[in-house]
Amino acid sequence: MSDRLFPDGFVWGTATAAHQIEGGNVNNDWWDWEHKPDTLCAEPSGDACDSWHRWREDLDIVASLGLTSYRFSLEWSRIEPAEGEWSQATMAHYRQVGEAFLERGIEPVITFHHFTTPRWVVAAGGWTEPATVDRFARFCERAAQELAPVLRRGCTLNEPNIVSTMGYQLGLFPPGEADVALKDRANETLVAAHRVAVAAIRGVVDVPVGLTLSMTDYQPAPGGESMVETVRRDEDVFLDAIDGDDFLGVQAYTRMLIGPEGWIGPETGVPTTAMGYEFWPQALAATIRRAWEYTDGRVPIIVTENGIGTDDDEQRIAYVRAALDGVLDCLGDGINVRGYTYWSLLDNFEWVLGYRPRFGLVSVDRSTFVRTPKPSAQWYADIARSNRLA
Ligand code: BGC
Repeated sequence: MSDRLFPDGFVWGTATAAHQIEGGNVNNDWWDWEHKPDTLCAEPSGDACDSWHRWREDLDIVASLGLTSYRFSLEWSRIEPAEGEWSQATMAHYRQVGEAFLERGIEPVITFHHFTTPRWVVAAGGWTEPATVDRFARFCERAAQELAPVLRRGCTLNEPNIVSTMGYQLGLFPPGEADVALKDRANETLVAAHRVAVAAIRGVVDVPVGLTLSMTDYQPAPGGESMVETVRRDEDVFLDAIDGDDFLGVQAYTRMLIGPEGWIGPETGVPTTAMGYEFWPQALAATIRRAWEYTDGRVPIIVTENGIGTDDDEQRIAYVRAALDGVLDCLGDGINVRGYTYWSLLDNFEWVLGYRPRFGLVSVDRSTFVRTPKPSAQWYADIARSNRLA
């Protein structure tokens, strides 16, 4: 059974993001978006999981599961609520969170931008405005200075390709633009922002720094070959920008069959998840392989997100088991995968879809905020502790 073992030092973690769990993040673009009458948003984020106050409960659960890493994000709009105004109290809060995790033997993996952008940055042009690059670099430098004692791994931008495609091409995320040229411009700004952020963080603290990328297992349906190349380009512009980084965070959830016009929807007979896309755990191995081949193995990979939105916890276990099986195959083929992060610790605010898709290892009562670990949490903890897929 030795082939079921993960390598020594393989990192096991779980992840969250500020806007999805903290609650009351009223000063960013998403808050506005959630409250606009003409968007598809199911509901506003509101109090989310109240993790701004209840983070110690989250910590206790992560610790009880024996995980060794916790990925969370900083809310830029709380740290710098107006240009050049720095909230010491907010930075102290995140530092306290980091310290508490470290004390319990859990490494804080800090994401500097996870989808939400301060209102003032958006008012000044957002991600199509070149000046945002320097603003982001300044934020990263300042936050890294404050958090240096607790930062163990830094992720600059979470899924910049989702920020650009959903926000500037498909109009589903803020700022709700639907223009390929704007999407391309956002990609350029985000690539530049990643590069300056790496330099800014490394200038302050000597920890691994990298990008996290949303990767989809795009497969051609009949006639879709060239469209596959087109949709992959929004991943590739970022894969082209990670040379010299310490790691690439691969985040994968599903497969998409691509026809001449784009995604043709789920294939008949393949089950779908609460997200409306296919139950396709094989996507993780497929995208790890693609990232590794595309970058000629120059950058180690960490799975910084993988998981499933479902009310059926058995299905969650089946999904993660199959995804991890694929990770073991990748490792067996010599691909340098250093860790796995389950998305998400908590049932939380799933952006446009509100609180309906439940990705958590832990459920959260929407009126009392009481957290209840699901059976999958224990199942995942056993795998992490034994470093073996049973
Ligand atoms: C994002 C998360 C999101 C998850 C599930 C990723 O795209 O980074 O914020 O909740 O996927 O959809």
